[in-house]
Amino acid sequence: MTERSCLAIILAAGEGTRMKSAVPKVLHKVGGMPMLGHVLEAATKAGARRLAVVIGPGAEAVSAYVKSAAPQAAVHVQAERLGTAHAVLAASSSITDSLKTGEADVIVLYGDTPLVTAETIGKIAKGLATSDVIFPGFRPADPSGYGRLIVDGRRVIAIREERDASPEERKIGTCWPGIAGFRGSSLLGMLKKVGKENARREYYLTQLVEIANRDGLSVGTLELDADEVAGVNSRQQLAHVEGIFQRRAREAAMAEGATLVAPKTVWFSYDTRLGRDVVVEPNVFFGPGVTVDNDVTIRANTYIEGTHIASGAIVGPFARLRPGTTIGKGAHIGNFVEAKNAQIEARAKVNHLAYVGDASVGAATNVGAGSITANYDGFDKHRTEIGANVSIGSNAVLVAPVIIGDGANVAAGSVITANVPADALAVARGRQENKAGWAKKYREHKGLVRNRKETKSS
Ligand code: UD1
Ligand code: MG
Repeated sequence: MTERSCLAIILAAGEGTRMKSAVPKVLHKVGGMPMLGHVLEAATKAGARRLAVVIGPGAEAVSAYVKSAAPQAAVHVQAERLGTAHAVLAASSSITDSLKTGEADVIVLYGDTPLVTAETIGKIAKGLATSDVIFPGFRPADPSGYGRLIVDGRRVIAIREERDASPEERKIGTCWPGIAGFRGSSLLGMLKKVGKENARREYYLTQLVEIANRDGLSVGTLELDADEVAGVNSRQQLAHVEGIFQRRAREAAMAEGATLVAPKTVWFSYDTRLGRDVVVEPNVFFGPGVTVDNDVTIRANTYIEGTHIASGAIVGPFARLRPGTTIGKGAHIGNFVEAKNAQIEARAKVNHLAYVGDASVGAATNVGAGSITANYDGFDKHRTEIGANVSIGSNAVLVAPVIIGDGANVAAGSVITANVPADALAVARGRQENKAGWAKKYREHKGLVRNRKETKSS
């Protein structure tokens, strides 16, 4: 009995010249994650048992990314960039390995088509039960740059690259999205027949359509949603794809029960999670790693990354929460407050112009306006631990490492360099002295001096 397995081969060796970038194209980010990561995730979710990524020579950054994002994936190097069919051949050892246990479905995906979903990959794999080869189509608003699908009735007979297409063929609105399905048993044989009789003198994967037809194989197709398979070759297309990603993320957040007062002004990352009855005011940016529990209000112009916010908290307006931060239940983070690697417990308040970095703030503690933790000594970072029910007066500097015990008070304007015991008052500033009548005398003296100057100069 033979088993069917699924191998996803992701092509990521292109130079991406049209991006005009020092960063490899597939590492450009959509929703805060490299495009290649989106494709790896979709293939994994679709149940691909093996993953293979084809990278270019010297693409250390890409191979390092694959190792961290999908350590189970095989990485193949395409020594020379001779085209997309040549790139798939670079992964031939993964194809042969997959065939060892029976028939292997091979799904080829392009690393520059990041919004493809697991459902679509699943549909293509399913289609391989009845067709030998599947080349889907889609109808982009602007087909320029894409290979055109040439059909005869329901049969796909060829894919013509824009550069090789006749003016008539260029009018075809159905294009190939850069995703295809093959049976592993026939793929390698077909790939070896690909020539480079085209405008770019490259081995095109799209030529497999004609080869499959010639070999008497059945070539199936299905239509995909244009937004899902938009490809990225330029910065303009990157922005277009980012726009689609954001629109979907906003819709999903609202469908899950969050209120976005002005959805178009809220920016999400691939892993942002908002709970129910979360209210997000305009102009909020969620960087990677943000989870927000139910009933949280995030007020306008707030920037959050790497942070967990527990239920009932209020954040912003104009707050900045940086990685490693947790905000406890019902805590308040106010305007112009920055927190980094800070654990702020339930009902604590840090409401105005404060910096809390590498610190913990206990439950129901209040950090006054303008207070900061001085966590950096020019060489190392140090922690500040503030207990529960503490009151830190305005404009205090807590010089880390330092511990403020539960229930303590720190006087406004203090520079705290030593631990403060629980329930103590710490005052660390010059003592105030009032000099009776001094100001009046000073004014009179200044008046005399000025009169003398005026008489001299007249
Ligand atoms: C390709 C298709 C086109 C399709 C479009 C969909 C071919 C010949 N053309 O065009 O029909 O409509 O995608 O977006 O396939 N790559 C390699 N090695 C190479 C060349 C490319 O790994 O030698 C990789 C790239 O990293 C990229 C993908 O293959 O992920 C496609 O290459 P790209 O140059 O972007 O092709 P398009 O011009 O977009
Ligand atoms: Mg492309």
